[in-house]
Amino acid sequence: MREKPRFNHRGFFHAYTKEVLKPKKTMARIMPWLYYILGKKRLYKLIAKGEYDAAIGYEHLIKDFPEVESVKNDEKRHGDIVSELLE
Ligand SMILES: [Fe+2]
Repeated sequence: MREKPRFNHRGFFHAYTKEVLKPKKTMARIMPWLYYILGKKRLYKLIAKGEYDAAIGYEHLIKDFPEVESVKNDEKRHGDIVSELLE
């Protein structure tokens, strides 16, 4: 059974920065086109890589903000989920 996230990432970082983060709508809008152009296998590999890269990107924060580890783990889990869709 997978670890369930405690809260969303936007809310998590808002507690620290007080900034209201907005999703990247452009990326969401071009996903169907990328699916069409690249195909499922290549697109899902790119998405999984983005999730794993995000996890790595959070690692440097964990020393000062140990709570960030749950966010990092979420990103790793997202990458795993997308990767599993390719199996
Ligand atoms: Fe993610």
